[in-house]
Amino acid sequence: MSEGVRIALVGCGAIGELVARRVYASPPPGARVVAVVDRVAHRAAEVGALLGVPAFTDLAEVPAVDAVDIRLPHDAHAAAVLHALDAGLHVLVEKPLATTEADGRALVEAAGASDRVVAVAENYPHLATVQAAARAIEAGRIGELVAVRTTRAYRLDGVWLRDGWRQDGGPAAGILLDQGTHHTSLLRHLAGPIAAVTASGGADTVGLTLRFASGVIGQSLYTWVTPAFGPEIEATAYGTGGRIDIRVDYEGAGGSAVLRSGEVLVEGEDYYDSHRAIVADWVGAIREGRTPLVDAASAFADLRVVLAAAEEVDRWTL
Ligand SMILES: NC(=O)c1ccc[n+]([C@@H]2O[C@H](COP(=O)([O-])OP(=O)(O)OC[C@H]3O[C@@H](n4cnc5c(N)ncnc54)[C@H](O)[C@@H]3O)[C@@H](O)[C@H]2O)c1
Repeated sequence: MSEGVRIALVGCGAIGELVARRVYASPPPGARVVAVVDRVAHRAAEVGALLGVPAFTDLAEVPAVDAVDIRLPHDAHAAAVLHALDAGLHVLVEKPLATTEADGRALVEAAGASDRVVAVAENYPHLATVQAAARAIEAGRIGELVAVRTTRAYRLDGVWLRDGWRQDGGPAAGILLDQGTHHTSLLRHLAGPIAAVTASGGADTVGLTLRFASGVIGQSLYTWVTPAFGPEIEATAYGTGGRIDIRVDYEGAGGSAVLRSGEVLVEGEDYYDSHRAIVADWVGAIREGRTPLVDAASAFADLRVVLAAAEEVDRWTL
């Protein structure tokens, strides 16, 4: 691998194209996309042209690679990861790890039994704002942590609707699966392991109440049917001595972590830059033989919370 990890980018849809443009067009050290794959030939061809590499409609056609970066719809992740591990390839796969508990568990087992690196593209643990907030909480800057609240409120539109799988009621659909593991990983990063969850809502809007192993209480609200209003406070950590707000910006560099006292911990962060950190960490893990920041077991912990929340939706009615 002296010339870098040879990567096939699998899935040239919305996020595949974004990652090609924003990460692989000038890749982090050691990463080298040598082929792209999408079953829609013109998408593969366009991203292949962008990166100057050959395009394919089936991974089986791709010549020798060391690793695959899988950017497919949710219900295609499990089979694609297992196939890649069978072929001896390192894997980066989009969130959520899988769509069922059984598939998630099978992936954790397969990853554990293999000597390949399996990383999951879960963004929040890679955000400087989230890392700074977690450090501040750990250092007691807001006293004792008592509660954490997260919100993801925006309008699903444009390229995210193109193939319809997010809203067709199928196994990949719904905001809980789409945004839930993101926020679960964020919550776990700030407050540790989650012990219990209840939920209410439907395919487009969901609310969760959580209890952490530490006794901290959490709330999350996700909706994708309301206009977005620029960088929003997506998470607040409440302590006995203060608060921290984490603002996330999907359109530019407006992300920040700020103590309510006014002290700025981090500012100027662009959410989508985290994809560069994710790829750099994955390739670093491959080259150094270490565990990536978000491995299959960590992503499975997030998935379990989301699946438990889905089971719990409106269980108690009055
Ligand atoms: N981490 C993030 O910031 C972030 C943001 C957006 C999407 N995502 C995740 O990325 C994944 C993809 O989402 P998207 O919005 O790009 O979806 P999309 O539908 O735009 O793209 C998926 C692509 O995969 C292709 N495809 C499907 N099955 C295939 C197969 N078997 N072989 C080859 N190609 C196949 C489709 O033709 C499509 O072009 C999802 O897991 C989603 O949750 C993550």
